Amino acid sequence: MNNNIKVTMMGLGYIGLPTAALIASKGIQVRGVDVQPSVVDTINNGKIHIVEPDLDGIVKHDVERGYLKASTTVEQADVFLIAVPTPFKGNNFEPDLKYVESATRMIIPHLEEGNLFIIESTSPVGTTEKMAELIFTERPELKGNIYLAYCPERVLPGNVIYELKNNDRAIGGIDDASTQKACDFYRLFVTGELHPTNARTAEMTKLVENASRDVQIAFANELSMICDEAGIDVWELINLANKHPRVNILQPGTGVGGHCIAVAPWFIVSEFKEKAKMIRTAREINNYKTEWVIEKIKNKALEFELNEGRKPVIACFGLAFKPNIDDLRESPALYVVEALVKQGFNILAVEPHASNANTRARQVTIEEALEQMDLGFKLVGHRQFNSLPDFILNFV
Ligand SMILES: NC(=O)c1ccc[n+]([C@@H]2O[C@H](COP(=O)([O-])OP(=O)(O)OC[C@H]3O[C@@H](n4cnc5c(N)ncnc54)[C@H](O)[C@@H]3O)[C@@H](O)[C@H]2O)c1
Repeated sequence: MNNNIKVTMMGLGYIGLPTAALIASKGIQVRGVDVQPSVVDTINNGKIHIVEPDLDGIVKHDVERGYLKASTTVEQADVFLIAVPTPFKGNNFEPDLKYVESATRMIIPHLEEGNLFIIESTSPVGTTEKMAELIFTERPELKGNIYLAYCPERVLPGNVIYELKNNDRAIGGIDDASTQKACDFYRLFVTGELHPTNARTAEMTKLVENASRDVQIAFANELSMICDEAGIDVWELINLANKHPRVNILQPGTGVGGHCIAVAPWFIVSEFKEKAKMIRTAREINNYKTEWVIEKIKNKALEFELNEGRKPVIACFGLAFKPNIDDLRESPALYVVEALVKQGFNILAVEPHASNANTRARQVTIEEALEQMDLGFKLVGHRQFNSLPDFILNFV
């Protein structure tokens, strides 16, 4: 495969846009498709609608050189990639594949013999086969004549451009020819190692990576709550335990958020209900940790009220789901803030990465918070919070 191909990226969000931009930067014609016209307009103006270091310059350059064009409609291409959301639905945390399915349906009329169709969205095991079935039901003449593969994304928000290029990738086709074709494609813009497998294993690889992190974070979060009761500083404890040459405990926090670690493990639990006991428990511990943080803050507020005879002004530092990004999806910090506001507490929220966050708390700067607050709590480890005064209680 060479650069003389046309690529279509379905979904221009945190994953789709940087991937489309990186591919276009290699001199490949990329059409980015999104259902939100405002996203399409922003990109066609050479601008971006998300926060990701270095992405703005690359998109601007790609658009100016004519290699990246955004649209709300699909056209013929050689390679179709899907990076649309895969949330869960209902009370049982079942994966909701409606966006992947609608993106696939948008592509189907434009598919031609020899095309490569790749899903990058985090997906439950069997999704690529399901989409293959959908395609071949609508276009039976394509069976055996197109290539279909799954390739999960494992980038770290805030470092996406580097990791897209340099991370290893698991690439699984629905048959060997599809795997090979997909590897040839990723070789055009990925310098990390490409690991060929089948579609089901590639799908599960992503889910297991996220579940593994979730289980390890749950261990740290459980320790933090035990230590609180035991009167032990959990940070010192973990630091000491990690001096053991074969121990590596992660850091506790406000909970677990984002669209990956807080979501993907449920895709395993919902399908393997009896077997996935540890994965389910880890999810529950990490969710419980967030409730625990809320209780801690409420207790400190009550203590203040008893001593001072008035309700405190409480500053919460951080709303994003992890340090140094603007992404608020499934954010435990945002959940804490909203729960406290709902319960009538006077909350100031500080989020340097999203000055207009969708919160009912009053958003202020670090300086304003320090000036106005009675109690302060650090919920996210943003670098801007590194030198906060010691009396601010640290949950991260
Ligand atoms: N954000 C991450 O760090 C990350 C990391 C690894 C994997 N993932 C996975 O990648 C996938 C995409 O995540 P994201 O963070 O980029 O989501 P996102 O919400 O930032 O972007 C998705 C985009 O898809 C668009 N969209 C929805 N339906 C569409 C359709 N039918 N056709 C075209 N566009 C459509 C939306 O308008 C949105 O702009 C998810 O499955 C997610 O779990 C995300």
